[in-house]
Amino acid sequence: MTHALPRARDAVRELRASKIREVANAGMGRDDVLAFWFGEPDEVTPGFIRQAGIAALDAGETFYTHNLGIVELRQSIAAYVARLHGSTDIDRIAVTNSGMSALMLVTQALVGAGDRAVAVTPLWPNLVEIPKILGANVECVQLAFGNDGWTLDVDRLLEALHPRTRAVYINSPNNPTGWTLAGDEQRAILAHCRRHGIWIIADDAYERLYFAGGSECLPAPSFLDLSQPDDRVISTNTFSKSWLMTGWRLGWIVAPPALVPDLAKLLEYNTSCAPPFVQRAGVVAVEQGERVIAHTVGRLRHARDFLHARLAELPGVAAVAPPGAMYAFFQVSGVRDSLEFCKRLVADAGLGLAPGIAFGPEGEGFVRWCFASAESRLADGVGRLRRFLADYCAT
Ligand SMILES: Cc1ncc(COP(=O)(O)O)c(C=O)c1O
Repeated sequence: MTHALPRARDAVRELRASKIREVANAGMGRDDVLAFWFGEPDEVTPGFIRQAGIAALDAGETFYTHNLGIVELRQSIAAYVARLHGSTDIDRIAVTNSGMSALMLVTQALVGAGDRAVAVTPLWPNLVEIPKILGANVECVQLAFGNDGWTLDVDRLLEALHPRTRAVYINSPNNPTGWTLAGDEQRAILAHCRRHGIWIIADDAYERLYFAGGSECLPAPSFLDLSQPDDRVISTNTFSKSWLMTGWRLGWIVAPPALVPDLAKLLEYNTSCAPPFVQRAGVVAVEQGERVIAHTVGRLRHARDFLHARLAELPGVAAVAPPGAMYAFFQVSGVRDSLEFCKRLVADAGLGLAPGIAFGPEGEGFVRWCFASAESRLADGVGRLRRFLADYCAT
């Protein structure tokens, strides 16, 4: 009998634990903490979407569905994607149990042990850790922060995408920076990846939370606007942000038709299917939810402008209003350890923000603030930050 402790595989033990959680755990159980650390809209799912889920339960929809999802939902997602990005057939759609699950499935399908993947960072940590679970190596290409906000040096990314690269992960609009790829940048990346047979895994979770989309709430530029069905392009998406449905755990994948039967097998061996009543709510959201998106984008735009105007008044804070998503990702001068800074902010000021280091080493010195919140809460938070910084700078 061996005396070694019973432990997980090395690849799993080496995963980063969430530093956002580490800060949040320090503030849990304290009702005087004003928390903006998680990326979640603060409004409940609209009633007409909830009712669709309830009606499906009342009708007894409590059984397994097809691995790829119910036909009605796949059809309505295909029609929705076609409306935003051009002709898309149902044979390209797989329904998943969240955007997170979509990314895991796609990675299981495409990226194996020893493969090289590239990610554009700072980035929501899950996207960098998922390929590592499967034993892949992830190299990061960093965005740069300047007076115009966050930008990508496309040539640097293309240099990193050499023929031995299996896949590139791009999240645009990006969590945490809000950085959004332009159409001509996407064109250059797609042409390069086509030449070298590299998969583009586009995490489009925030495509509708795009402030340059005008009153029609146009989506952010997408690889789906440019690619053909048989390109090595995958788009993952979620109901969580656009339709205020984080707790429902529903998402989807748009993939080349030839990949979808293999995604169905992987769905079988992961979750088998999304719950049928959740899928019914999804049909209503995707078919009737444009007003929800218009409301959310309007509210977020207002919150973004309000928060950035207030942050600009704080000495030592460098913040640029982002074109998309729902986060202020700002630099605080003098902060060299954002984890320690955020823990102190919770302990001393009762303000819960996420440390920039949670999103990669290039996020050090930055802090993320989810602004999907009422103006009065944001104002209270800024007041706490102002008072804290006055002390912090004095010490
Ligand atoms: C960039 C990004 N992608 C995907 C997701 C996944 O969302 P969900 O798993 O709730 O569908 C999130 C959630 O925060 C995210 O920030």
